[in-house]
Amino acid sequence: MSREIRVGDDPATEVAERLTEVAMAGGHVVLTGGSSPKRAYEIAAGHDADWSGATVWFSDERCVPPTHPDSNFAMADRALLSQLSAGPAVVRMEGEAGPDAGAGSYEAEIRARAGDDPRWNLLLLGMGPDGHIASLFPGKPEVEERGRFAVGVPLAGMEPQVPRISLTMPALCSAREAILLITGESKAAPVARAFGEDPDRSLPAAQLELRYGTLTVLLDEAAASKL
Ligand code: 6PG
Repeated sequence: MSREIRVGDDPATEVAERLTEVAMAGGHVVLTGGSSPKRAYEIAAGHDADWSGATVWFSDERCVPPTHPDSNFAMADRALLSQLSAGPAVVRMEGEAGPDAGAGSYEAEIRARAGDDPRWNLLLLGMGPDGHIASLFPGKPEVEERGRFAVGVPLAGMEPQVPRISLTMPALCSAREAILLITGESKAAPVARAFGEDPDRSLPAAQLELRYGTLTVLLDEAAASKL
């Protein structure tokens, strides 16, 4: 497995630069929800690069309308996508369709546009305090899904308690490059559990093993403080 764990001075800026580079090269970029990624999106928006050749996907979505405050698309759209003069093609997850129908249509979009082995050029993820990534929560059956690329998650493992749509482990692990961006003191204990000396493999974050590329676990000092 190829994995690097790194502490950065300014992880959000680093991620924003990588997002911009891959987007300018016309890559398939997978965005995620959460507060750490949001900061990176805002910085990337400031670059106002040409994203017109890129395709933007999502790691997961809450089952709410795309304008709802809890929508991951709404957050990424406000922070980044709507700010770009030359925006990308965006394939959003249809949270408003509900978990199963929404996952079914995303599966079809992936297979139609990215094929049966979707090698995302850049996958960005955050990690929740329980060790979840995308909307794959520890101990839930969706973590074990191996046949599909997108699944409905009827019961979320944490707030907001709304059903979700999520990429599955095989879809995440087919990325050519992935960055797991984790910042803040509140993540220090779960970071140590997932990436410390004796990793807890029940945490979805600890199960990420890219088949074709490298995973960078990018931390700030606070998130790395218990490693
Ligand atoms: C979601 C996200 C989720 C997120 C982590 C980290 O829909 O909730 O996609 O996987 O990335 O929970 O979020 P924070 O950076 O806000 O802790």
